[in-house]
Amino acid sequence: MANASFQLQPQGRCAGLLDAPGDKSISHRAVMLASLASGTSQIRGFLSSSDCQATVAAFRSMGVRIVQPASGRVQVHGVGLQGLHAPHGALDMGNSGTAMRILAGILCAQGFATRLTGDASLSRRPMQRIVEPLQEMGAGISMSPTQTPPLEIRPVDALHGIRYPLPVASAQVKSCVLLAGLYAAGETCVESPVRCRDHTERLLQTFSYPVEVQGNRVCLEGGGKLEATEIEIPGDLSSAAFFMVGTLVSSSSQLVVKHVGINPTRSGVIEILQRMGARIDIRNKRNYGAEPVADLVVHSSALHGIDIPQDLIADTIDEFPILFIAAACARGTTRLSGAGELRVKESDRIRTMVTGLQKLGIDAREKPDGLAITGGIFTGGEVDSVGDHRVAMAFAMASLVARDAVTVLNTDNVDTSFPGFVKCAEQLGLRFN
Ligand code: S3P
Repeated sequence: MANASFQLQPQGRCAGLLDAPGDKSISHRAVMLASLASGTSQIRGFLSSSDCQATVAAFRSMGVRIVQPASGRVQVHGVGLQGLHAPHGALDMGNSGTAMRILAGILCAQGFATRLTGDASLSRRPMQRIVEPLQEMGAGISMSPTQTPPLEIRPVDALHGIRYPLPVASAQVKSCVLLAGLYAAGETCVESPVRCRDHTERLLQTFSYPVEVQGNRVCLEGGGKLEATEIEIPGDLSSAAFFMVGTLVSSSSQLVVKHVGINPTRSGVIEILQRMGARIDIRNKRNYGAEPVADLVVHSSALHGIDIPQDLIADTIDEFPILFIAAACARGTTRLSGAGELRVKESDRIRTMVTGLQKLGIDAREKPDGLAITGGIFTGGEVDSVGDHRVAMAFAMASLVARDAVTVLNTDNVDTSFPGFVKCAEQLGLRFN
């Protein structure tokens, strides 16, 4: 790794107009389903980040022709559910847990063996959560003795549908099992303890695949067919959230975020910030393809600490690093519990954020499944993002309210979800050296 870093001068601005990059979760799924569809699909708004390009590369190496004629445009010449070929060598999913876990569901149903690998961070992430249900479906999949990648998948004669209660509310596991279910005999049902992002269900229906959704339970019958289609991908609220918080904690600022996804399974960050006193106006709500989108107008606001409601955790799971920055700028204490999943993201986001906040002079205390942060003054200094893209972008925003310069180490992986982050941040007023 080249070990790039951000060096930021204090007291920048965060105001103007933000065109958020395409949604990462939907971009992965769009390429996967389009590759397995019959006919040519057109995707608009695709996120051309290193994570999503790992998914593109994997399908290309399995014989799918994928053309990227212009920024955000992808043309996928689908090969049908049975049309993939054995790749030459292992499929390297880079930093992307989403790509590895969801793809594994598809690969377990192919007539060839595959090996899935990843970078140092992905190689530490838990895989038992997908291996268990896939084995229950009859798949030939194994992982390392530490229950982490690489994943080894060997062909089996057939998969059978299962009813699977998810032990953790994970959209990656749900999607993995559902996509294996496309190939399984009979019905596959996945039930989540609380709702979690539903892009796979929505997209399957866009590709004309019948899916039955009842509350937090999703069922489908194997043996159907995906029809090529046109897919519109909205801006990624998870990426916009950094700048939204940047504006909230700056003085006299306003940010307009255009055309961003507000799927209710993803928009917990808006509700949590509003409960903390944020002024965020939601304008022009409309549907864009299978997803709801809106324009957001964000105003500088005096925030106060809250106890984060348990029922908003899954809907906010990727936004906690930047919410912790908001909490550090809020009056009083913000408490989070029941969020142990944060420890198995691209980094242990409880540990990484608490360590960084403390280094920058904030009173932050770690708990096994959460933390407590009391608002204070960011002194400035050096923090390590340990290669976690969302941690790096979150600490960049701390510079807006810091007394002195902020250096964020290990920022290379920002490209996994937000290529062009620095340019975008500079345009909105952050001051990089
Ligand atoms: C994702 C689901 C979430 C999220 C990840 C993307 C997805 O992970 O943290 O960044 O696209 O399905 P879990 O399914 O592990 O909660």
